Amino acid sequence: MIADVVVGLQYGDEGKGKVAHQLARNGNYTHVLRFNGGCNAGHTIYHEGKKFVTHHIPCGVFYGIPSIIGPGCVINVDKLYAEIEELESNGINVTDYLMIAENAHVITDFHFAEDRHEEKIGTTRTGNGPAYRDKYARKGVLAVELPELDEFIIDIFEELHCEEKVEVLCEGAQGFGLDIDWGDYPYVTSSHCTVAGVVACGIPHSAIRDVWGVAKVYETYVGAKKFDGEDEIFEEIRSLGNEYGATTGRSRQINWLDIQLLIRSVYINGATKVIFNKADILEELETWRVREGDKVYEFASSNDMEFWLSSHIPNSHVIFSRSPSEI
Ligand code: IMP
Ligand code: MG
Repeated sequence: MIADVVVGLQYGDEGKGKVAHQLARNGNYTHVLRFNGGCNAGHTIYHEGKKFVTHHIPCGVFYGIPSIIGPGCVINVDKLYAEIEELESNGINVTDYLMIAENAHVITDFHFAEDRHEEKIGTTRTGNGPAYRDKYARKGVLAVELPELDEFIIDIFEELHCEEKVEVLCEGAQGFGLDIDWGDYPYVTSSHCTVAGVVACGIPHSAIRDVWGVAKVYETYVGAKKFDGEDEIFEEIRSLGNEYGATTGRSRQINWLDIQLLIRSVYINGATKVIFNKADILEELETWRVREGDKVYEFASSNDMEFWLSSHIPNSHVIFSRSPSEI
């Protein structure tokens, strides 16, 4: 088995959907696997000129690649069906390719109701936290228990380990700064957003080939903690970069890229490539900055910033990406 992984290096919304979609098109993958999160995620994908936002469904369906919702995920069944219908009505065949690991968990109406008025953390109010809490309290509901999911249910061991040639693209959700273990607790999501989440889904560590860490050239965050720095230019970044949540429509808080967080996430994920999205936005503003603790470094061009980042990020290939600017 060979596995490539796409993970978020910041606070989600880095453009993982775009990167995974491009990799799925160019690679020889037999499967695409979503390994964490649920409908809290919103992956914006441009496919044949149309814009799609996926929440549960892995991007393999756009190319007829079997696409698995893994055991690290939680599923809202009504929202999953709405998502299937939305994609199918736009010409994407989902039902023939979607698979759900029998040991994925379900977001029940109770979970959803419980999260609906959450304020302390600033969750997406989709019931994710309560579903994971019940999973770990050993009173959750497994996907295999719901007759509505029957047609999609698989045993991930049989699907991935009993075939000859398996090449899996693992599509992560959220990002390092939101990870349950590595993020800024309690302002985190409830799943494993690093490669740990991939291994927990039954992908052996020895199968992992490339880890594509995805970041933006600046940072955004949605949630209850104060995140913005003091800078007028952030309003311009928000508007030029369309920094509003794909799932909730909330305005994203902005800050300059934090090199310390980035280096931690590159090391802990073992990222072999680092893609920085939205370079076009800083180019439009002709302002390039990075922060390290209290210090803010300024650069004269994208090339200067890219060179500086390359020399500070160990063992991985740094790539600046300019388009499309919407994520
Ligand atoms: P939850 O995952 O809905 O419980 O939310 C916990 C935190 O993670 C909140 O700050 C959310 O805004 C954030 N979050 C969850 N999913 C995403 C995502 O896909 N993109 C960005 N932020 C997210
Ligand atoms: Mg998103």
